[in-house]
Amino acid sequence: MQEKNIILTGDRPTGRLHLGHYVGSLKNRVKMQNEGDFEKMYVMIADSQALTDNFNNPDKIRENLIEVALDYLSIGIDPEKVTIFVQSQVEELTELTFYFLNLVTLSRLERNPTVKSEIKQKNFETSLPAGFLIYPVSQAADILLFDANIIPVGVDQEPMLEQTREISRSFNNIYEEIFIEPHAVLPENKVAQRLPGIDGSAKMSKSLGNCIYLADDKKTVKKKVMSMYTDPDHINIEDPGKVEGNIVFTYLDVFSNDSHFEKYLPEYKNLDELKTHYQKGGLGDVKVKKFLIKVLEEELEPIRKKRAYYEQNLDQVLEILNKGTADAREVGRAKINAVKKSMGIDYFADSRFLKEINEKYN
Ligand code: TRP
Repeated sequence: MQEKNIILTGDRPTGRLHLGHYVGSLKNRVKMQNEGDFEKMYVMIADSQALTDNFNNPDKIRENLIEVALDYLSIGIDPEKVTIFVQSQVEELTELTFYFLNLVTLSRLERNPTVKSEIKQKNFETSLPAGFLIYPVSQAADILLFDANIIPVGVDQEPMLEQTREISRSFNNIYEEIFIEPHAVLPENKVAQRLPGIDGSAKMSKSLGNCIYLADDKKTVKKKVMSMYTDPDHINIEDPGKVEGNIVFTYLDVFSNDSHFEKYLPEYKNLDELKTHYQKGGLGDVKVKKFLIKVLEEELEPIRKKRAYYEQNLDQVLEILNKGTADAREVGRAKINAVKKSMGIDYFADSRFLKEINEKYN
């Protein structure tokens, strides 16, 4: 199989997207989109996958489908350049998943470390829904149906890519060589890979309630930054402070640049100078936090504006999803036809089949 540059990525619509998603992957998607170094780029709203652990709460998925679509559009994913589509509406994905299931063993599924830790976290140990255990197979279908070779994801998705490559190889060996072997592209910046929550815990996550959401209004962002975890031993302004593990500085590492200093805090040339002053003592948390608010607002305000536009024009949002999904289905249909042909189960489209049975019975 000849590889073309085809990028595919997706998100489960289980909540609004936050700054962790933004620096960990969304920003990079916009960069890739604008660099244009690809044949095709897909962004998928993985609602079927989200249902594998939310099967009893479909309303949650239904509500967040639009939230995620609004988040995509407001951060600048451009439907002219990127095919945004809804997983459950591409039936070809379900079809491919069913054939792929023959190519994996139960014990292989049970070894996936990401799934293993999710099973614990979701208390699925004693009653594990089969659909949840096999979601990596459905994810392999997400990727392989579109011949996608470049998959920008977080480190936790590596095991999915590993399983996808195994399924691809296995199919190619048994039937015909029609699938490529995709690889993950991880974020370069280590901190951005795992942005800590505002409470200082290792990861920004909805279930920990420590997120700044892309859709948060100005007042909320301000409140959240003001409550951020800093250095608990930095009590008086004169005290020397620590910047390691101080979340306000972690965020400045990720979000600020020299031009922010010029604009909002000209008494310092750059972040190094600010850190040095903090470590020496004599710099208060409030001043640093106020600076961070301005830095974040510069990023968030345009996103908010765009979101407001799309919230007023929901028909456009639906039209974008509908069009993207139709496009994905067309590509998917062609691939499924090739899959069935290579498996020899395309009976009615195959004149050889009629010839074969004729020869056998007449
Ligand atoms: N599992 C991914 C997540 O939880 C979402 C996802 C579904 C995905 N299908 C995909 C990511 C295909 C990349 C490619 O974030």
